Amino acid sequence: MQIPMVDLGIQYRQLQVDIDLAIAGVLASTQFILGPQGKAFEEEIAEYLGVRHAIGVASGTDALLLALRAAGLGKGDEIITTAFTFIATAEAISAVGATPVFVDIDAQTFNIDVQEVERAITSKTKAILPVHLFGQPADLAPLKALCDSRGLLLIEDCAQSCGARYGDRMTGSWGDLGCFSFFPSKNLGCFGDGGLIATDNDAFAEEIRVLRNHGSRERYHHHVIGVNSRLDELQAAILRVKLQHLDRFNQQRYDNAQLYSRLLTALGIEVPFEDRRGIHVYHQYTLLTDQREVVQKSLMAAGIASAIYYPIPLHRQEVFLDICQDVSLPISELTATRVISLPIYPELTHTQIEQVVTTIAGSL
Ligand SMILES: Cc1ncc(COP(=O)(O)O)c(C=O)c1O
Repeated sequence: MQIPMVDLGIQYRQLQVDIDLAIAGVLASTQFILGPQGKAFEEEIAEYLGVRHAIGVASGTDALLLALRAAGLGKGDEIITTAFTFIATAEAISAVGATPVFVDIDAQTFNIDVQEVERAITSKTKAILPVHLFGQPADLAPLKALCDSRGLLLIEDCAQSCGARYGDRMTGSWGDLGCFSFFPSKNLGCFGDGGLIATDNDAFAEEIRVLRNHGSRERYHHHVIGVNSRLDELQAAILRVKLQHLDRFNQQRYDNAQLYSRLLTALGIEVPFEDRRGIHVYHQYTLLTDQREVVQKSLMAAGIASAIYYPIPLHRQEVFLDICQDVSLPISELTATRVISLPIYPELTHTQIEQVVTTIAGSL
């Protein structure tokens, strides 16, 4: 039996009646950009996240870009972030003209190490940008306390953590700005590109609404150079249907992860660490092993997908070499050589999980 990293078809078929109806409604309305679906979705997800404002944009990358721009960050500013993440996190920092300052991660959670963040603060630091990697919240309470005491902005990259909580609040509601991606394979995924910014700050929200719509408050009056970055009506209508099921899907991911961990622990394999201050939503199920190549080869031979997120930390990427010549981040570097992500999605069956684990057991 072939097992992909993610199977989006099962979820679509499960929700097909509601999704097709939602799509048909938008097609009949012929209102495709900045209409009632987007507005309703923004209200619903703002309530779900527990924030005052949610602003739909065209992608998670744009969410980061527009959040940074709305916060006035740019040339001369340093933004501290993790080296162990997808390129978009740092790409957005560079794209607004600011400098990403990469720090190391915690070896267990793979998330930014708060002590390393503190050490990296300089007079140019303006913000801290943690990523809730693989769906596990970064250590938000000390990060927030650090930002408050040093007068820094906290901007969360929640692309992989939609629905995850830290303490009694959702990721994305702790920071000054929370940035989400609705890329199809994300925990809350649309049928194309999509993203969103969550904030309690009225001024930031207003600025993002202007920036996403060509820098325009009033039609054909332009105050700033903006962009075209709106979450379209079709995507918003689909997301409204899926949002109603997000907690259930995240619980299924969590239950699947628990089964993986039980079976793999019995084999003596190091399983993902769960920080009890947060609730992990398992966007990825990522193991550490020194036998990655052997494991990956035998999974592939059995028709089972696996992936390496991420093989090269950002301070070692060609694009950042000029600003990272003297940067050494041993935990990120070692982790990048040992991680392997296994298939995980809500509808993955117990039999499939057992098949993955049995294949791994046979390879060791
Ligand atoms: C951590 C992280 N940040 C940002 C993004 C960018 O999101 P998008 O692909 O919607 O632009 C992603 C998406 O893959 C991501 O994983």
